[in-house]
Amino acid sequence: NHDITVLGLESSCDDTAAAVLRGRTILSSVVADQTALHAAFGGVVPEIAARAHAEKLDICIETALNKAGTPLSEIDAIAVTAGPGLIGGVLSGVMMAKGLSAATGKPLIGVNHLAGHALTPRLTDGLEYPYLILLVSGGHCQFLRVDGPNRFSRLGSTIDDAPGEAFDKTARLLGLPQPGGPSVEQHAKDGDETRFKFPRPLLDRAGCDLSFSGLKTALLRQRDQLVSDQGGLHPKDVNDLCAGFQAAIRDVLVEKSRRALEVSNDITGFAVAGGVAANKSLRASLETLSDARDIPFVAPPLALCTDNAAMIAFAGAEKFASEGADDLSLSARPRWPL
Ligand code: KG4
Ligand code: ZN
Repeated sequence: NHDITVLGLESSCDDTAAAVLRGRTILSSVVADQTALHAAFGGVVPEIAARAHAEKLDICIETALNKAGTPLSEIDAIAVTAGPGLIGGVLSGVMMAKGLSAATGKPLIGVNHLAGHALTPRLTDGLEYPYLILLVSGGHCQFLRVDGPNRFSRLGSTIDDAPGEAFDKTARLLGLPQPGGPSVEQHAKDGDETRFKFPRPLLDRAGCDLSFSGLKTALLRQRDQLVSDQGGLHPKDVNDLCAGFQAAIRDVLVEKSRRALEVSNDITGFAVAGGVAANKSLRASLETLSDARDIPFVAPPLALCTDNAAMIAFAGAEKFASEGADDLSLSARPRWPL
């Protein structure tokens, strides 16, 4: 009953990553981010991302194996993100993993990127099934009840933008650098969240669905009003707009989380994951909510909330244990709902 050692690969968005995991121990986790490559374009350019993944996967894998002190021959299985994501990047990873699997005879495991995020609280904190997780990233926002490595039920999700996308757009509208989440959070720290009014979308509707596209419209309107009134934005305006915007996102996520917890019986904990889970104000509010209900709260370390390959290796190990390996017909899927 030894812990298996898994090489994980991730290349579904703008991070190229490789990691070596043994049991729940992360022996290495290497992430090469492409932020600099896309900076001039104000967002991720799929063609540039695909080429960079194809170029960087090799060196990421080599570095991960070296850092772990584990030669390829000591790896028990190879796990790779097989979707959902930008197809060029997903293909690069799947092809690489198939090559490694064919060359070494090690089992190949195709992992759903979202399952990677959703299982992270088990990797970091050993959370037992079933638990509730709020997945908030640049491309996703959903509440999932997790009953097993491949047993997810969705309690609600965004009907338009993902919160990370909203943070990124807001940063762009205010002339702040990408990725927008960290920039907006930085400015919000010194801002007054009550100065500008932002809507709290969908709170009047029952259930756990969310909406965020109205927030950027509200931001745009207030920005243009300030520009026409005073000829431009003062640093304080930017801080206050960031604070108001962040507070609106936080309030909506907290209220919908409250409802999701209300309808979740016998869960062992409430977790948050995905890039937006790095937001400190959001984390603190969700923790307060959870504490008030005596439900253990798990927010993985920031490096494991954003895209990484350790979560893919872990989800791969869980899937392997419950349903075995995939074969070389594994395909890359741009869309793959849980
Ligand atoms: O999970 P992730 O690394 O990539 C995927 O979308 O799959 O999430 C990236 C998103 C970006 O939109 C980024 O702006 C946002 O997470 N983000 C944040 C923070 N750090 C990253 N949003 C709010 N506050 C942060 N501190
Ligand atoms: Zn992600």
